[in-house]
Amino acid sequence: MKLALTPLLAALTCQAVSAFPNLEPSALRPRASNPSILIDPPGFPPLPSAQQAAFQSAVVGLNLSNIQGDILIGMRKKKELFFFFSIDNPTAFKSRLGSDILPLITRTTQILPNATHPPATAVNIAFSQRGLNVLGIRDDLNDTNFKNGQMYNVTATLGDQTSYWEPAFAGHHIHGVFLVASDTIDKVKATLSRIQKISKGSISEVYRIQGHARPGNEQGHEHFGFLDGVSNPAVSGFAVAVPGQATVDPGIILLGESGDTGTRPDWAKDGSFLAFRQLQQRVPEFNKFLVDNALSEPGLNASENAELLGARMVGRWKSGAPIDLTPLKDDPVLAVDHNRNNDFNFTHPDDPNFDFKTNQSYCPFSAHIRKTNPRADIANPFNQHIIRAGIPYGPEVTDAENASNSSSTDPSLERGLAFVSYQSNIGQGFAFLQQVWANNKNEYLYFALRIGEDPIIGVALDGERFASGLDPKNQTRNITFNEDFVVSRGGEYFFSPSISAIQNTLSV
Ligand code: HEM
Ligand SMILES: *[C@@H]1O[C@H](CO)[C@@H](O)[C@H](O)[C@H]1NC(C)=O
Ligand SMILES: *[C@@H]1O[C@H](CO)[C@@H](O)[C@H](O)[C@H]1NC(C)=O
Ligand SMILES: *[C@@H]1O[C@H](CO)[C@@H](O)[C@H](O)[C@H]1NC(C)=O
Ligand SMILES: *[C@@H]1O[C@H](CO)[C@@H](O)[C@H](O)[C@H]1NC(C)=O
Ligand SMILES: *[C@@H]1O[C@H](CO)[C@@H](O)[C@H](O)[C@H]1NC(C)=O
Ligand SMILES: *[C@@H]1O[C@H](CO)[C@@H](O)[C@H](O)[C@H]1NC(C)=O
Ligand SMILES: *[C@@H]1O[C@H](CO)[C@@H](O)[C@H](O)[C@H]1NC(C)=O
Ligand SMILES: *[C@@H]1O[C@H](CO)[C@@H](O)[C@H](O)[C@H]1NC(C)=O
Ligand SMILES: *[C@@H]1O[C@H](CO)[C@@H](O)[C@H](O)[C@H]1NC(C)=O
Ligand SMILES: *[C@@H]1O[C@H](CO)[C@@H](O)[C@H](O)[C@H]1NC(C)=O
Ligand SMILES: *[C@@H]1O[C@H](CO)[C@@H](O)[C@H](O)[C@H]1NC(C)=O
Repeated sequence: MKLALTPLLAALTCQAVSAFPNLEPSALRPRASNPSILIDPPGFPPLPSAQQAAFQSAVVGLNLSNIQGDILIGMRKKKELFFFFSIDNPTAFKSRLGSDILPLITRTTQILPNATHPPATAVNIAFSQRGLNVLGIRDDLNDTNFKNGQMYNVTATLGDQTSYWEPAFAGHHIHGVFLVASDTIDKVKATLSRIQKISKGSISEVYRIQGHARPGNEQGHEHFGFLDGVSNPAVSGFAVAVPGQATVDPGIILLGESGDTGTRPDWAKDGSFLAFRQLQQRVPEFNKFLVDNALSEPGLNASENAELLGARMVGRWKSGAPIDLTPLKDDPVLAVDHNRNNDFNFTHPDDPNFDFKTNQSYCPFSAHIRKTNPRADIANPFNQHIIRAGIPYGPEVTDAENASNSSSTDPSLERGLAFVSYQSNIGQGFAFLQQVWANNKNEYLYFALRIGEDPIIGVALDGERFASGLDPKNQTRNITFNEDFVVSRGGEYFFSPSISAIQNTLSV
């Protein structure tokens, strides 16, 4: 395991305790080492340092100390608890929110490499529409998905089977969520107790999910084994794009910033909608599927052909190397080079034998990363971008599960992705990607082909789930998925407000 962001250490030692009375005591004690709360696996694009971000944000007038810390940084937490709560006493809660909770909330400026006041445990807060209602907020944030809540019409839209939904998400009691992130579960628990103590009975727990990066060399990889968090758009005013990465206006992610076309109340500026999904991953079933449907590429043995199928379903090798650049075998050097591992757009203008509108020799049209970010397949720039900020949850696959090729039904062995995406418009971000791109088997954009669903997250609304293009030797062949590898256990839509909104609007 590597310790990321070591420059933090230098900043910590010269911090005066009295200047920051509300930080965790452990963050304030000068220490020989203060482990970062973030992972930094090779292959992830680098975060801007606090100094670089300050410079870039000044150019566009973005106030990074007003934006909660989780929104722009991506999938990098070591441990993260999602604590879903209901508000039982709005008056008491508001008062606590404005006085003792607000100082615990981590801003973007605090979480970046080289930040001056890095918290030992980061805290963010977000509210559902029901939560805003309970707080007496009458303003309309002008997002239909948010307003309706995720459960509303979810089968017709996202394709969920609500019988698999966690009852907590299907109920009507989730008013908000605390995101509590640190390098150890103990610190997460300590901060949660502190929040509960501060809130003194004004809120109650509805549900929780404890996420954690996978162990050892799997750190940064989701449960199927693929490096996850390689590609997020660069938000202008925050980060500079690595080659091949899309740059988006801040308003694609943040309300009220340039690029946000919605009409919003002033106080909503610098907030973002948080789409949360508990996505169970059936790992032994996925692995068996790859073995049973292994491709037949000459020169590759059976297990390599199984790996190849998985890589084509995702669009990247487990290492993170994109198949568009290395289609038939993994390239571990490319995988960890953030200046090359996003530098592709499916078109290959230099290859005279290749027509990117019909030929899937490099990357299938249905691959998860092509379905969810078509890059040069569609006219650029487009607005259907999200910042992904989720984390794996649940234990590693047990020997018994592996041996039986099936996920245990023991709830304590459930594993998956605590999916989080941030966007200024849910219907243009998460819900669009899931409904219009991932779940759509029909003619995809300009391709006069039925290419099937996204092999990882797509749901067949007609029951017949398949994808074509996965077999490089016979690209019209359909490969049928007789079961789902990812099962939605539900979720909710939240609004992650700015610091000033918490201070001046939500707590008064
Ligand atoms: C358990 C469920 C999921 C798994 C295992 C998964 C896995 C992955 C992996 C391995 C990558 C490639 C690495 C990277 O680019 O960071 C990726 C990329 C991505 N995924 Fe997912 N994902 C899941 C759910 C979702 C959902 C629900 C959405 C949105 C509806 C989504 C949207 C994206 C996007 C936008 C990218 C980046 C594509 C690009 O920019 O090239 N994913 N995912
Ligand atoms: C940026 O936001 C912080 C937190 O709300 C606020 O204290 C500060 O005044 C803002 N800065 C500017 C320049 O607006
Ligand atoms: C971190 O801060 C120090 C002191 O302010 C500065 O010299 C250094 O360049 C910074 N590092 C980065 C990566 O910005
Ligand atoms: C539910 O979603 C479907 C598909 O988007 C739409 O056609 C239908 O009008 C929606 N129904 C309601 C009640 O919102
Ligand atoms: C929502 O924003 C749209 C523009 O995107 C505007 O036409 C509409 O009036 C707004 N609705 C509300 C309730 O503010
Ligand atoms: C397939 O080839 C890889 C080396 O590329 C090797 O590690 C693996 O053992 C081989 N598997 C089989 C089943 O032959
Ligand atoms: C698809 O592209 C590959 C790579 O350039 C090429 O070898 C192959 O002949 C092309 N297939 C067709 C049907 O054009
Ligand atoms: C796609 O990448 C090629 C270089 O490989 C470049 O020439 C082309 O302009 C890119 N297309 C878009 C829409 O970015
Ligand atoms: C899972 O079981 C297979 C045999 O079915 C074995 O080859 C593989 O090593 C096992 N994987 C793990 C992680 O134990
Ligand atoms: C697990 O799946 C593999 C691949 O299909 C198969 O070889 C093995 O026999 C299966 N094991 C069991 C216990 O079903
Ligand atoms: C490709 O697959 C389809 C469907 O399985 C089959 O009908 C067709 O004969 C195959 N083509 C070749 C060239 O193998
Ligand atoms: C693949 O499935 C689709 C949808 O069922 C069908 O239209 C298409 O003909 C199939 N392709 C082949 C080669 O069987």
